[in-house]
Amino acid sequence: MLNIRIEKTTEPKQKPAAGQKLGFGKIFTDHMFVMNYTEGKGWYDARVVPFSRISLSPAAMVFHYGQEMFEGLKAYRGADGKAYLFRPDMNAKRTNATNRRLCIPEIPEEDFVQAVKTVVDVDSDWIPREEGTSLYIRPFIIATDEFLGVAPSQNYLFMVILSPSGAYYENGLAPVGIWIEDEYVRAVKGGIGFAKTGGNYAASLIAQVKAHDEGFSQVLWLDGVERKYIEEVGAMNIFFKINGTVVTPMLNGSILPGITRDSVLHLCREWGIPTEERRISVEELLLAQQNGTLEEVFGTGTAAVISPVGKLRFKDDVMTIHDGKIGPLSQKLYDAVTGIQRGGAEDPFGWRVLVK
Ligand code: PLP
Ligand code: COI
Repeated sequence: MLNIRIEKTTEPKQKPAAGQKLGFGKIFTDHMFVMNYTEGKGWYDARVVPFSRISLSPAAMVFHYGQEMFEGLKAYRGADGKAYLFRPDMNAKRTNATNRRLCIPEIPEEDFVQAVKTVVDVDSDWIPREEGTSLYIRPFIIATDEFLGVAPSQNYLFMVILSPSGAYYENGLAPVGIWIEDEYVRAVKGGIGFAKTGGNYAASLIAQVKAHDEGFSQVLWLDGVERKYIEEVGAMNIFFKINGTVVTPMLNGSILPGITRDSVLHLCREWGIPTEERRISVEELLLAQQNGTLEEVFGTGTAAVISPVGKLRFKDDVMTIHDGKIGPLSQKLYDAVTGIQRGGAEDPFGWRVLVK
């Protein structure tokens, strides 16, 4: 258990007005969680302090070799007015899986969850109330040694910042168009694809810019070796409903093991819908589209929640899915997941966690 010092701001900021369009990740709350690590000493000086700039050496290792990790989860205002998290233990586990891959020291799972709960509680008045809004939580760790050699840092900062946010995509639940990328790849087995670390996202920007220029919201990546099999989207995992079965790429080391992905698989199984985690080729999708069995496509992610896909483009082929409208399963999953998160629905798996 961490001993967390709390220093409250004397200059609270103006909170967004009720009904104000929040966007995603643009507004930050009054406080942040900070904790230091030094080799031989471990994690120390856990504190919640006023949100502020931080000072680092220009030689800090994070700037040069990208030794860093981040997570993403949300706090929700429940129907009862209380603050809730969704499966934060899963973010704690994934943090340590990322940390092990990047030679960043692990954080005890319960300390990670305690840090998140504490800072969310201090800023709980910032959790927005409108439908579709939440407080996005961004925990992250950076390597801070002042050193230009390539080696694991001996000092780190763990921080948690908070951002009241609306839908990740501008048009909310409206189906998005997705570009299947055949030139660039995101990750290969043995690399860092399964880890939540900045480098994966830096490497994705060029394809994202290309997709935007072509009028698509995100990139769907193919496997890095054969460029045949579906991996995941830039900020979501991907699901297909083909002939009544819900299919998603298996966790193969190069895609992020999404917490929403895992939740959707649990819900589908609970509802008796057949599910498969396996390889899916683009060719299989094109065939399913042609013979009318590609019923729905949707992405899953903390920021994106359940995001219906209305259009998929691969080279010169454009697949329109469910007439470009949200499908019944996507809608049912969206209602179920957000219902559990906010407390309007039953929580059969005990996923909703009270902040305080
Ligand atoms: N895939 C990528 C690349 C992501 O950035 C995210 C978002 O965190 C996801 C998938 C979905 O993961 P989760 O459902 O845990 O948010
Ligand atoms: C998420 O937290 O859902 C993310 O995908 C993070 C970010 C890339 C938006």
